[in-house]
Amino acid sequence: MLPKPLLVTAGGALFRSDCLRLLGAVADDSVACVFADPPFDLGKDYGGGSRADQRGEEAYLAWCKSWLDECCRVLMPGGALFVYNLPRWLLSIGAHLLGRLEFRHWIALTMKSTYPRGQRLYPAHYGLLYFTKGPPRAFHKLRVPVPVCRHCGGDSKDYGGHRSALNPEGLSLTDFWEDTSPVRHRKFKTRAANELKPMIPRRAIEMSTVPGDLVLDPFGGGGSTYEAAEELGRNWIGGELADCAPILERLSRFPSRARLPAPVRAALRR
Ligand SMILES: C[S@@+](CC[C@H](N)C(=O)[O-])C[C@H]1O[C@@H](n2cnc3c(N)ncnc32)[C@H](O)[C@@H]1O
Repeated sequence: MLPKPLLVTAGGALFRSDCLRLLGAVADDSVACVFADPPFDLGKDYGGGSRADQRGEEAYLAWCKSWLDECCRVLMPGGALFVYNLPRWLLSIGAHLLGRLEFRHWIALTMKSTYPRGQRLYPAHYGLLYFTKGPPRAFHKLRVPVPVCRHCGGDSKDYGGHRSALNPEGLSLTDFWEDTSPVRHRKFKTRAANELKPMIPRRAIEMSTVPGDLVLDPFGGGGSTYEAAEELGRNWIGGELADCAPILERLSRFPSRARLPAPVRAALRR
């Protein structure tokens, strides 16, 4: 049984819950999009002590597989699963998902402010895996503004003389996202630990769902997925094991409700 929600809005509900407990309460084939940005096993302290995020390779991957299987179960046919992580972990996560879902993309997001470790290359990207449960039920091609030079304001790329032929709404989004550094600038963060730029879950949701669809994120963090879902008119179910105050703060501009939204109620029938 899930605890009572900490927050209910017009679009969704937030639970202070372990991811497996949350997912276990969700009905089969009921969610249009799962966005998962789990801890990376790097010993970060999310409130449970750093050892909670230092399982070691075998235990970490076994844990990931247990919640990934639950994500596959709750996705509706054509639903989308996005998993954000380090390339190192995404290799095993992707291999596990290959027999269960259909691969769509490995999206690379440029990573800034890192440093080379030992005998390795300088790590310059994180990955966002995108799988669907069979052929996608929704897919929207997104556009991004034509990149400009931050010094002179002119185009930062040469379009081979075809600049005027570019779509005025911008360039098609590719699987290489260099316009957003993955971790939010300190100034915009609502908490100290990792928090994504809202643009990242927002794009995933816009790409793979339609208004009214249900989005689930079992690793709430600072609540960037829930904010994006609420703004985009999607329903959402959120969970976070540690401190939920940053999420409550971020969502405080959305009026709270007494009753769960109908799609959330329907999905939590299990
Ligand atoms: C990388 S952060 C997510 C950040 C989030 N995407 C954002 O943009 O703010 C991972 C979160 O998962 C939470 N977490 C760790 N273990 C968990 C578990 N077993 N169940 C639910 N949440 C967990 C951590 O407390 C942390 O807030």
